[in-house]
Amino acid sequence: MNDPEVVRFTEARHGVHTYESLLAYVDKLGVSDSEFLMGLFETEGGRHVGNIKIGPVNAIHRTASLGLVIGERTCWNRGYASEAIRLAARHAFGPLRLHKLTAGIIDGNEASLKAFLKNGFVVEGVRRQQNLCESTWRDETLVGLLASEFHDG
Ligand SMILES: CC(C)(COP(=O)(O)OP(=O)(O)OC[C@H]1O[C@@H](n2cnc3c(N)ncnc32)[C@H](O)[C@@H]1OP(=O)(O)O)[C@@H](O)C(=O)NCCC(=O)NCCS
Repeated sequence: MNDPEVVRFTEARHGVHTYESLLAYVDKLGVSDSEFLMGLFETEGGRHVGNIKIGPVNAIHRTASLGLVIGERTCWNRGYASEAIRLAARHAFGPLRLHKLTAGIIDGNEASLKAFLKNGFVVEGVRRQQNLCESTWRDETLVGLLASEFHDG
């Protein structure tokens, strides 16, 4: 979480993270009933390579945002994010009974945008210059997926 390359398009880039601060974050979400943090582990060997979070959930509208980090850079471009989004959507639209998932992707994060679009997310709009990122104002692409649009597998 302190690797600038990993956090460059996430809000985590604004802070310094320690083992204790991350543990506190995991503990906090572990008891939350509106934010669901899940670890991503390789099938072979069980290595923890990242996390995905559903939430905050809006219980009235049954919507939630989705965010993820593959922290092991050597694991990028292997399809992990695409698979993680699919599995998180399965959980969101199954047991959590959500109606819609959303995400916001900062301009330049091509891999993230592709991973969401591959899973059926649709571009709903662009928030112009919504983020100050690497000293430039960058647009944020808003994507969304309805439960009825989700094709598992
Ligand atoms: C963005 C991130 C989640 C992508 O994870 P990933 O496991 O590498 O993604 P995938 O392997 O599933 O690839 C998704 C698509 O992006 C493409 N891709 C991968 N790296 C790319 C890059 N650097 N530039 C352009 N496209 C790229 C892949 O080829 C794939 O497209 P395809 O299926 O058409 O071939 C990962 O790089 C990451 O955790 N980054 C840091 C945190 C972050 O930015 N999170 C998202 C915040 S919205």
